[in-house]
Amino acid sequence: MTTLEQIKQPLTEEWIRYEQYMRMALTNTNKNINDILTYVLVNRGKGVRPALVLLMAKIHSATVELDERAYQAAMLVELVHNASLIHDDVVDQSFVRHGKKSLMGQFGSHISIVIGDMILATAFLSSMKSGYYDLNTYVVEAVNRLCEGELLQDEQTKTLGMTREAYYDIICRKTASLFAISAGAGALAVHAADEQVKKAWQIGYNIGMAFQIKDDILDFAPESQTGKPSCGDLREHKITLPLLTVLEKSSDEERAEILALVRRADEDEECVTKLCEIIDAQGGKEMASQVMNEFIDAAHALVAEYPESPCKESLRLLCDFIGGRTL
Ligand code: FPP
Ligand code: MG
Repeated sequence: MTTLEQIKQPLTEEWIRYEQYMRMALTNTNKNINDILTYVLVNRGKGVRPALVLLMAKIHSATVELDERAYQAAMLVELVHNASLIHDDVVDQSFVRHGKKSLMGQFGSHISIVIGDMILATAFLSSMKSGYYDLNTYVVEAVNRLCEGELLQDEQTKTLGMTREAYYDIICRKTASLFAISAGAGALAVHAADEQVKKAWQIGYNIGMAFQIKDDILDFAPESQTGKPSCGDLREHKITLPLLTVLEKSSDEERAEILALVRRADEDEECVTKLCEIIDAQGGKEMASQVMNEFIDAAHALVAEYPESPCKESLRLLCDFIGGRTL
């Protein structure tokens, strides 16, 4: 099985420098604030997005050593990503993240909201100070997309009128956009040509779409596997691809029955169990996996166009890693 360590192999030196940027960003002279920021730093996720930035920077770089722009971009996407997860756990009232207490679980909603804001402010301040106007504008645009995704998703949980088009639109904004921008920013950081930046963006987009579909499939897995409560999406009335594919082939009557179960999923565990049984019986997760694989194949096809190099191999491994991940 592919691991992120294998993927990051061509980035050994770069990763050390990137980590220094992150440590400097998430620090404060006040001990209490510093302790909270350290909690964020230590309990971060896998670093898939900054790895994508640095791989894309390296694959397009004319020089062996990456300059500050690439690290600035990697740090920015990671700060934005972490701020969004901190706020997301408040919105979703999720006490667990990456198998540990989420910031909200550890310090409560009030602190989480303000720390999320502070991390965003840190990202914007470092953007202003760096002066890389093109690069920072490109990355910061992702913040708006993330917020739009979250708001559109919220609307859907109320109407339950999810369609395939709406689902793709939501996961593009809330997840794939940041992957796309991470990949594009890597190329932009080393002044790659527009065409190359667009191609990198496309690779990130396809990886990001696959990533969120996998996330939505994994939401049905046991907490012991993922470190997140199982079926949280159903309890939040989120209709994701495993259920959507089932709804798409249901009769009007079956559809009404399923939606009635979704409506009560937050208050009645039996509804959650029933929905899981329906999804299992109809092969909802398998159908969603098929769609995910189409996005992974599209990413692979674009990666295949690069000349052979260790970074290209890592991008290939990254595509496979997204589809195969179990947490
Ligand atoms: C995780 O998705 C959440 C997101 C990808 C984006 C959340 C965005 C916001 C809360 C808007 C605020 C944004 C910023 C930058 C402050 P998920 O809930 O499907 O996944 P999960 O299971 O990991 O929680
Ligand atoms: Mg969430």
